[in-house]
Amino acid sequence: MSYIDDAKRKFDALKDKKDVIILSIESSCDETACAVVKNGREVLSNVVASQIEIHKLYGGVVPEVASRNHILAISECYEKALKEANITQDSLDAIAVTYGAGLMGALLVGINFAKSVAYALNVPLIAVSHVHGHISANYISHQDLTPPFVCLMVSGGHTALLNVEDYCKIKMIGSTVDDSVGECFDKVARVLGLSYPGGPNIDRLAKLGKNNIKFNYHLPLKDTFNFSFSGLKTAVINYVHNIQQKGEEVCTEDVACSFQELVTDELTEKAVKLLEENNAKKLVVAGGVGANSRLREKLELACKKIGVDVYLPVLKYCTDNAAMIGSMAYYYMKNGIGLADLTLTAKPNVDITIG
Ligand code: KG4
Ligand code: ZN
Repeated sequence: MSYIDDAKRKFDALKDKKDVIILSIESSCDETACAVVKNGREVLSNVVASQIEIHKLYGGVVPEVASRNHILAISECYEKALKEANITQDSLDAIAVTYGAGLMGALLVGINFAKSVAYALNVPLIAVSHVHGHISANYISHQDLTPPFVCLMVSGGHTALLNVEDYCKIKMIGSTVDDSVGECFDKVARVLGLSYPGGPNIDRLAKLGKNNIKFNYHLPLKDTFNFSFSGLKTAVINYVHNIQQKGEEVCTEDVACSFQELVTDELTEKAVKLLEENNAKKLVVAGGVGANSRLREKLELACKKIGVDVYLPVLKYCTDNAAMIGSMAYYYMKNGIGLADLTLTAKPNVDITIG
């Protein structure tokens, strides 16, 4: 029997298996990660080899450098994930891998490694969307969480409001028409002279500043569920450059605070609007910017007011990791989707809407 025929038979059989153990691989950007997840919810190991220190030198992720470092790190990551889970390769029911969205070269490292392992072990290969993985970070953070819910997706690559009707029935209601919110945090941080990744640094500095700056800017797309952040980014950059050209000192704390207030207000208001429109009872936050302390605070407060439960991923699962990919792979498998063959390739962009 060919690899794929056997993999298909095994993939279908997994639906009724009591315990399903998936080894997952994530390499879409600047973290090389492998994890072992049982039944979509129990993380047996979660290994992340971060390249942040390497990319800091350049002020952002350099795609070619990321790919090369994934190659250097991935075998060790895989071995560590098995060791920390205290299992051998024979216990693996499937291999899952992020196939997109992300950097082409970086994704290909994880995909080719995953293909080799799946083929060598003769187990199914499950191709998972990175964005869906970010949603699943909440299934491992909150064991009681089940769809339906509204999801606010705020990552380095995506900013969107989603209706998650079921694990694999996800509808995009609105999204950014230009920059993602993470990109905006990182670019504003850069103009303030803060190191990469900028989001956590803005978060930290904002706590020391005041919300006292009026940037020359009006939020667009007021009555929609879409977002636009490039205008705000430009307004902050212009403000900083103007002060510097006058030879005056920029109060980075106040800029960070005023910027962060605007962004977190916008995200909170639109999330609440969708929750009310849908009469929804749960809000789930996904993606790296979900680690932002002010956003978490505002969402918790706003949701309390309207009687909605808010689910925030545990901080280590907010940013990129493989456990979230292993969790989503389990639900793909339960819904009969995601089985890949050995021709699987990377996709820089993927549709969020499925089902
Ligand atoms: O989800 P993620 O790890 O990567 C993508 O899938 O894109 O998100 C990374 C983004 C970066 O832009 C980073 O600056 C931002 O998440 N981030 C934060 C915080 N922690 C990470 N942004 C604001 N506040 C934070 N505390
Ligand atoms: Zn991500």
